[in-house]
Amino acid sequence: MSLIKSPLYNLLLRARMKKNKKKIIANIKMNGSLSFNEIYFNKIKKNFNNFENLNIGLCLPYPYLFQAKNFLEHTKICWGSQNVAKFESGPHTGEVSAPMLKDFGSKYVIVGHSERSTAYCESDENIAHKFEKIKKYNMTPVLCVGESLIEREAGIMERVVSSQIDAIVKINGAEVFEDSIIAYEPIWAIGSDTAASPAQVDKMCNFIKDHICKVFNGNFKNFSIIYGGSVNSKNAVQLFASESLDGVLVGRSSINIEEFFQICSTAENS
Ligand code: 13P
Repeated sequence: MSLIKSPLYNLLLRARMKKNKKKIIANIKMNGSLSFNEIYFNKIKKNFNNFENLNIGLCLPYPYLFQAKNFLEHTKICWGSQNVAKFESGPHTGEVSAPMLKDFGSKYVIVGHSERSTAYCESDENIAHKFEKIKKYNMTPVLCVGESLIEREAGIMERVVSSQIDAIVKINGAEVFEDSIIAYEPIWAIGSDTAASPAQVDKMCNFIKDHICKVFNGNFKNFSIIYGGSVNSKNAVQLFASESLDGVLVGRSSINIEEFFQICSTAENS
């Protein structure tokens, strides 16, 4: 029996993953203003800095990175962006590069979000190049993968997700996944009334973990799998009961500070 499939391997893997702090990443999307953020960041600083078991990251629109740095530097809260250019500099009007994000203290960078790949026709190859730039500048990619409703109904979600991961491996090699975050975000659950069920999340997160472990040839590596898609304070309780989940990527509920606090409290105590 190969080590990759053995129960001992899975046990060791789960034990290792469990030791990590839970990642709670807010995808603020195109929301906020200087005045809104001032109140928001102050509340985050005051009430979210004492969580012991969490790594909290706020992924913001580019113009507010400087404000986040001013408010959140010297706290445990990290920040970052929702996209990055695949180039480092040069004639790319309207783009923002990885070194620029780094200048503003960014840690997390969302890449491959379906709202971008659908609206701006972002290819898997582009996403792979962006992923590489994020790693090169010592930031943490939050790679979004997930299937559409049609793909789920056709039962091909595992094939879809593994091909999204393999596109990164093909261009960058498997090592880039070390210390990275993969967010399982089924497109049909984003911005909807219903999140994926804990059983669906569990199954796909385990599939992704096993797939990456195979890509790593069974060597232990540190990476996290989180879930995104209509996470709120109510479903967080069930979601965090799952052993397979290392955290969540929160959209709408992250800009409601009370709701976001509840999600973090649930994660802290689970
Ligand atoms: P919602 O939580 O608003 O469904 O958004 C999820 C998302 O897109 C996070 O990246």
